[in-house]
Amino acid sequence: MKGFGSDNHSGVHPELLKAIVSANTEHAPSYGTDEYSEKAIRLFKEKFGQQTEVFFVFNGTAANVLSLRFLTERHESILCSDVSHLNLDECGAPEFFAAKLITVKSTEGKMSLADLKASLKRKGDQHYTQSRVVSLTQPTELGTCYSLEEIRAICQWAHSEGMRVHLDGARLTNALIHLNCTFKEMTTDLGVDVVSFGGTKNGLMMGEAILVLSSDLIAEAKKKLKFIRKQAAQLPSKTRFIACQFERYLSSELYLQIAQHSCSMAQKLFEGVSAVPQVKVTATRQSNAVFATIPKPWVKHLKEKYFFYVWDESNFECRLMTSWDTQPSEIDGFVNLLKQFSETT
Ligand SMILES: Cc1ncc(COP(=O)(O)O)c(C=O)c1O
Repeated sequence: MKGFGSDNHSGVHPELLKAIVSANTEHAPSYGTDEYSEKAIRLFKEKFGQQTEVFFVFNGTAANVLSLRFLTERHESILCSDVSHLNLDECGAPEFFAAKLITVKSTEGKMSLADLKASLKRKGDQHYTQSRVVSLTQPTELGTCYSLEEIRAICQWAHSEGMRVHLDGARLTNALIHLNCTFKEMTTDLGVDVVSFGGTKNGLMMGEAILVLSSDLIAEAKKKLKFIRKQAAQLPSKTRFIACQFERYLSSELYLQIAQHSCSMAQKLFEGVSAVPQVKVTATRQSNAVFATIPKPWVKHLKEKYFFYVWDESNFECRLMTSWDTQPSEIDGFVNLLKQFSETT
C-alpha cells in the first residue's frame, strides 16, 4: 500500500539503484578510500565550497549526533527547537553522545532569533551548561523553511556569542525548491558551520553525509571527526555503496528533479485538502509535507487505503508526506475520499 506516511517509506529511486548496481563490480578499497567516495566528495565540494570536509555515515541520527559531538564538550549545550527531531525522536542520543539539549519555543517548527537570544542564559556560570551550538532543521519538522535572512541573522548572532551553527538537513534539497537558491547560498555563504546532509529521505537506499563547512573548523575536523565516527560504529566499510548514490544524486540535476517532484506533489495535495471544508491546513507548506486536521471518524477509513501519521492525537492533526514516487492519481484518490466523507457528513 502506498500512502503519505513518510518519504522514507518509499523505495530507492531507480537511478540510484542503478548506481549501486554499477558500483557492484570487481573489488574496491574500503572505508572511504575508493574512487566513488572521491568523486562524491568532489561534488560536495563543488556544491558547498572547496573547503568542505565530508564524512559519510549510515543514517540521519548519526549525522546529527556526531556533528554535535564534534562541536561540543561534555559541559556544553545545544539550543534546538522544542519540536526538533533531535529533541523528540532520537531517543536521547544527542545527550548520550554529545551534550545537553536546551529546547527553544518554536512557531511552525522555526525558532525566532528573539527566542534564541532569550534561551542563552548564565554565560560563565559554572553551575549551568554553556550553550555552544544552535541546531536548526531545514526544512523544519513541520515542513517550513527558514529564509536566507533568518539563517544569516541566527549565524551572525551565534558566532558573536562564540557559538556554532549546525543544520539538520535530512531533507535539505527540498528547501532549495522553496528558496530558489543553491546549497552554498543557503549554508556556507550564510555562516552555517556543519550540515547533516540527508540522502535516505530523498531517494537513496540509505546514507547521509556530515559536511563541515567553516574554514576555521576544517583542521579540527580532519583531526577529530573520523575518530569520533569510527568510535560510534558509523564508519561504513563498503563506503562505495553510499558514495556512489551521492555521486549519482549530485552529478546531474537528479537531486533537483527529485525535490521538485516531491514538493509539487505536496502542493497538489495541499490544494486538494484545502478545498475540503472540514479539513484545516495547520502549517505553511514549504517542502514535501502537508499538516492538516482531519475529522477523527474519517481517519481510520482513510488509513485503510492510504497510510499516514496522526501527528497530534489531541486534535487529529495529521502529517501527509510526499516523496519521489508519489503519483498524481494517488493524491486524486485521497482527495476524492475526503470529498466523499465531506458530502456525506
Ligand atoms: C529532520 C530529521 N532529522 C533526522 C532524522 C533521522 O534520520 P534517521 O532515521 O535516518 O536516523 C529524521 C528522520 O526522520 C528527520 O526527519
